Amino acid sequence: SYVIALPCVDVKDRSCIDECPVDCIYEGRRALYIQPDECVDCGACEPVCPVEAIYFEDDVPAEWGDHRGSNAEFFSAL
Ligand code: SF4
Ligand code: F3S
Repeated sequence: SYVIALPCVDVKDRSCIDECPVDCIYEGRRALYIQPDECVDCGACEPVCPVEAIYFEDDVPAEWGDHRGSNAEFFSAL
């Protein structure tokens, strides 16, 4: 799936939400998160983020940490 990485934190532009055809982008306290089981990999959200926070999961820059861990933490807390 696609993931939202560190640049979204405290920016939360929300343009990505409007593009998602399956409404799988959820808002957290400091960033937004993509539900990996609901994302259909359409890629529509990726180009609209003004801070380039969205990546296909294998393309997230490594220095931005463990997005799988933070995604799992966010969705398990819902
Ligand atoms: Fe939604 Fe498509 Fe982005 Fe997945 S890739 S979060 S389905 S807009
Ligand atoms: Fe965050 Fe970019 Fe969406 S800043 S809310 S991932 S448009």
